[in-house]
Amino acid sequence: MNPIWWKTVTALALLCILAQQFGDRDWPHRFHRKHFIHHQEPIEYNYIYSKPSKLTNWEYEWERDRNNHGLSSEQCDAAFPKLYDEVNRAVVHWKDRNISSASIELYDGNEAGVRVLFKDQQLRVVQTRGMFRTDFRMRILAVLHQLHRAITSVEGIDEPLEDTEATIVVDDYPNFPRDGRELATWSFTRASDNDEHAGVWLIPDFNFWSVPPAAGTYQEMQAKARKHDGLIAGKEQKLVWRGVDWTNPGVRGALLNATLYEPWADVKKMTWNNSTDKIALDDFCRFAYVVNTEGRSWSSRLTHLLNCDSVPVLHNLAWVAHYYHLLDPEVNYVPVNRNFSDLGEKMRFYLDHPHVAQGIADSARTTFRERYTTPAATACYWRRLLRSWSSVAFKPEGYEFVGHGKSHKEQRIGGITFEEFLLHNSSMDYPYE
Ligand SMILES: *[C@@H]1O[C@H](CO)[C@@H](O)[C@H](O)[C@H]1NC(C)=O
Ligand SMILES: *[C@@H]1O[C@H](CO)[C@@H](O)[C@H](O)[C@H]1NC(C)=O
Ligand SMILES: *[C@@H]1O[C@H](CO)[C@@H](O)[C@H](O)[C@H]1NC(C)=O
Ligand SMILES: *[C@@H]1O[C@H](CO)[C@@H](O)[C@H](O)[C@H]1NC(C)=O
Ligand SMILES: *[C@@H]1O[C@H](CO)[C@@H](O)[C@H](O)[C@H]1NC(C)=O
Ligand SMILES: *[C@@H]1O[C@H](CO)[C@@H](O)[C@H](O)[C@H]1NC(C)=O
Repeated sequence: MNPIWWKTVTALALLCILAQQFGDRDWPHRFHRKHFIHHQEPIEYNYIYSKPSKLTNWEYEWERDRNNHGLSSEQCDAAFPKLYDEVNRAVVHWKDRNISSASIELYDGNEAGVRVLFKDQQLRVVQTRGMFRTDFRMRILAVLHQLHRAITSVEGIDEPLEDTEATIVVDDYPNFPRDGRELATWSFTRASDNDEHAGVWLIPDFNFWSVPPAAGTYQEMQAKARKHDGLIAGKEQKLVWRGVDWTNPGVRGALLNATLYEPWADVKKMTWNNSTDKIALDDFCRFAYVVNTEGRSWSSRLTHLLNCDSVPVLHNLAWVAHYYHLLDPEVNYVPVNRNFSDLGEKMRFYLDHPHVAQGIADSARTTFRERYTTPAATACYWRRLLRSWSSVAFKPEGYEFVGHGKSHKEQRIGGITFEEFLLHNSSMDYPYE
């Protein structure tokens, strides 16, 4: 070989090493990464994961960090200190109980869901139900993608996740068996006054991935909503709502009744066959007041309404989603009775006091859109959930036996990889029969 060739190769290699050593301007970050690469012994997690902050000079800035799915655990703690109440609540509920393989059965009473296994940092699909139905399939895929992204985005910068197994129900609410068994289910929502729901682990819903059927990614939705930003006094001085009433006639019917003929209301009932009065999600942000109503259970619409810099108006809620503990009456939303009997009075007050309304809108915007409902926060929540869950749940063996006859049985890792599941066939339920 030509010596000049060798010299060139050697020089290039040296340059690469130098670039690796000194090219990274972010020294603390680089140290952090190295530290974990060499840290081989098993890591013990407390049941509520938290450790002293090693961050110096890092502060969350929403404009820079809001779409960063890969914040480290320390950054997540620093940026979203109040995000994890629901995870901690579930840990307290389960720490003296046993989450066994039987506790995560995909129970028949639920129409749609997915059982997942994490093995060696790989997301695997063990079982699905409901893939044949478009709406359920979208929910399952949205949840799996969120999980996958939350894990892969911190590979190499954060502690590895322990192997674990869990079941996610994607129906509007989870159902439980009547035989006294308590299942440990992950779900989008729980009813706060239902004891059966005490053991539910709340997860970010499918809207945090993308909005069905075709409104774009969640990041795009937030960006579209921001285009309507402005002072409350400059927005349309009305309360806006669109929806069907049959999903919850008690609440939604009461809203329709309370706003009939009111000059401050732009509230209309929709039917599936007539979309004349339809409003695109981001167009709600043109209005100064946006009202949320529960349907069959929680209303995933609320997350989008909080993407506006408008004043959220909420009736007393019976259902909880993963970030609802951050809703603060008269601080970041206007509370009204579930029967809307006090809606008119409250509307007249805030319409007469736009500076008070502005304070509520500002607080809602900085709490939710700019912090706790950002993609960055959602990824942090998923990782915290996984770590906390695996600290109280059984350790999966992660293997299953396949093949026919005693002598031919072979041991293999359970389920199939997420990648294979997507490509092979995600329109039918796994295991394929
Ligand atoms: C949990 O399981 C272990 C081992 O199977 C058992 O010894 C323990 O009593 C169980 N605890 C509860 C609260 O059921
Ligand atoms: C709304 O008003 C209609 C007509 O008066 C009444 O029948 C219905 O019960 C009301 N709905 C609610 C939820 O109050
Ligand atoms: C639309 O559906 C409603 C019931 O939801 C029905 O009363 C109405 O006649 C339908 N209109 C059209 C144009 O199909
Ligand atoms: C659809 O709703 C609008 C507004 O309520 C109404 O004017 C129109 O006649 C309806 N169209 C049909 C086909 O029912
Ligand atoms: C509406 O709800 C409030 C608060 O729960 C209650 O005091 C009031 O009696 C209700 N009004 C009607 C008309 O049901
Ligand atoms: C995928 O699913 C469809 C039905 O949903 C089925 O007809 C087809 O055979 C499946 N393909 C594979 C590769 O399993």
